Amino acid sequence: MADGGSTRPRVFVARRIPEEGLDAVRAACDMDLWEDELPPPRDELLRRVAGVDGVLTLLTDKVDDEFLDAAGPQLKVVSNYAVGFDNIDVAACARRGIPVGNTPGVLTDTTADLAWALLMAAARRLPEGDRFVRAGSWKTWGPLLLLGPDVHGATIGIVGFGRIGQAVARRAQGFGMEILYHDLEPLPASVTDPFGATYLPLEELLPRSDFVSLHVNLSPVTRHMINAETLAMMKPTAVLVNTSRGPVVDQVALAAGLRDGVIWAAALDVTDPEPIPMDDALVGLDNCLIVPHIASASRATRGKMAAMAAANVVAGVRGEPLPTEVPPPA
Ligand code: DGY
Repeated sequence: MADGGSTRPRVFVARRIPEEGLDAVRAACDMDLWEDELPPPRDELLRRVAGVDGVLTLLTDKVDDEFLDAAGPQLKVVSNYAVGFDNIDVAACARRGIPVGNTPGVLTDTTADLAWALLMAAARRLPEGDRFVRAGSWKTWGPLLLLGPDVHGATIGIVGFGRIGQAVARRAQGFGMEILYHDLEPLPASVTDPFGATYLPLEELLPRSDFVSLHVNLSPVTRHMINAETLAMMKPTAVLVNTSRGPVVDQVALAAGLRDGVIWAAALDVTDPEPIPMDDALVGLDNCLIVPHIASASRATRGKMAAMAAANVVAGVRGEPLPTEVPPPA
């Protein structure tokens, strides 16, 4: 509890999030807000969390044993402002009895929208076309100018058929696409039948897909799932879309694959590291579209994520069950 006689719980919020979240935390807690645009440096983060009852973290804040030691034994909750939680050592939190919250559900369609925008933009070469016009290179209508593949009627391979993967499949249905998916195991027909989606092992899905869209969590199993070997299984005309986590793709292999025509194009919302260094080979490739991890960045969705993250941290400091808790590891 706060010093100076206040009995209100103390909460550290690691970045400015939409007001609907901040208002809810402020109303229930003594809030310490990191105001900078950039994340708190590690030493500052560890200093600021010392003695707090709850933390509201972002995917840029690593929550591990060092963080939890720095916070102290009174810490009651870690609430992540993201659906992904690979920045958090959930097992370490569970060992200390600290629940972890995340923001599932509310960003599903917004993320699928961005995945679809990336797919369309890479296929139809929108960034290249825009650069071409602005460079003054547009001289006439060109029969061979900026050709790309059709999206409608093509085959999409969705890797990770959870909420977001399924939302991408819904969009693919509208484009009359054949839908293949891969997951840890085939999902029940009640999930896949509405999409007419066919399960395939990764090594069979990749050679058949015109578009491959990644929607897996980052884990030791999925790290560098797309590498030189799996890229070589893809069609030379294929487009790879990644809105999951950067390390799911081996970027060195991807840059070589895009340069050498192993695949045709890639569109990335996430990179490894973030931000991507300007001297990374991918930055110099015309057939690689990169945006700065904005898949959930609609005003409405970021507001809902803020409200959810706030509800988790407030419930946690009160010792109540979190509305959306990350299941602790078995
Ligand atoms: C998440 O929530 O995990 C996204 O990557 C950011 O919204």
